[in-house]
Amino acid sequence: MRVVSGIQTTGNLHLGNYLGAIKQWVAMQDQVAAKGGDCLFFLADLHALTVANDPKDLAAHTIEMAATLIAAGIDPARAILFNQARVRAHAELCWILQGTARMGWLNRMTQWKDKAGKNREGASVGLFTYPVLQAADVLVYKATHVPVGEDQKQHLELARDIATKFNTDFGVELFPLPDPLVSEAAPRIMSLRDGGAKMSKSDPSDMTRVNLTDTDDLIAQKFRKARTDPEPLPDTMAALADRPEARNLVTIYAALADRTSQSVVEEYAGQGFGTFKPALADLAISILAPIRDRIAELLKDSEAVQAHLRDGAARASALAAPTLKEAQNAVGLQI
Ligand code: TYM
Repeated sequence: MRVVSGIQTTGNLHLGNYLGAIKQWVAMQDQVAAKGGDCLFFLADLHALTVANDPKDLAAHTIEMAATLIAAGIDPARAILFNQARVRAHAELCWILQGTARMGWLNRMTQWKDKAGKNREGASVGLFTYPVLQAADVLVYKATHVPVGEDQKQHLELARDIATKFNTDFGVELFPLPDPLVSEAAPRIMSLRDGGAKMSKSDPSDMTRVNLTDTDDLIAQKFRKARTDPEPLPDTMAALADRPEARNLVTIYAALADRTSQSVVEEYAGQGFGTFKPALADLAISILAPIRDRIAELLKDSEAVQAHLRDGAARASALAAPTLKEAQNAVGLQI
């Protein structure tokens, strides 16, 4: 079993990243190690270059986000933690796979359509080929499982298509097909201001998300101001079907508490958000405050964080090298 996943270094991590991805990563780290497998988690700094990028911010975000992952429970001794740019095999395999991926496949990617918007002519080429690099990220390790939020599922399906076509075109059985593991508890955490939009780093309003570095007061304020409706909570999740904002807050509570959403609505049935929101804020603070404090502690020695990333990159490079060589051989490159 080989588990691989990444996170783009475009700034603050939020509750959606934590519940949808990082919490799963931490849980898998022990299970996978016990079975003799590997977990590789990386900061996708090359992917961050596909949108407007300030070099100083990129460097700072890479360290801050590495510290955040460690603070949230990723153990650089058990998992392999690194930044993508340090393992050159990602970019090299990406180039090889650009010969396999089809324009039509990339044109159908919803993230491309959303991010490029109406201005496709002005979008970077990297934004278009972004999913090919993502495919290389997982295929270069022959990943078997990729824990992600629901929004990344389409990119993983594309990685499977690329792997299948490569294996077929070159008559090899080089790449196993990676399985996306979408968090059951929190596949898609929504914005605190709009139950129809996912919680996202790129939303211009900071009030739509809880960042892992927010102060206790800010967390409480964001939940207090979260959009809801005047109805009390019902006693079944089914009754929340057309109340997306309310459903989202219950989902967040359940995912934070490692409980089912159904048990949470049963506990709060008949109560309004005047009671539920402070309880949710207290729960979130009890989990996020220690993470925030550990981040601050780790960032006092950013060289130590860099050392973890360098060590992780060396271990990752050793795992990637044989696959890259096999891919080069398969296509006939003389290296
Ligand atoms: P990114 O950086 O947008 O998000 C990192 C992880 O967090 C999950 N996530 C969410 N989950 C639930 N609810 C949300 N609102 C939410 N927002 C984000 C994402 O699904 C993801 O798992 N392209 C990827 C990074 C990447 C990658 C990879 C992932 C690059 N190479 C290879 C897996 C394998 C991205 O931009 O994720």
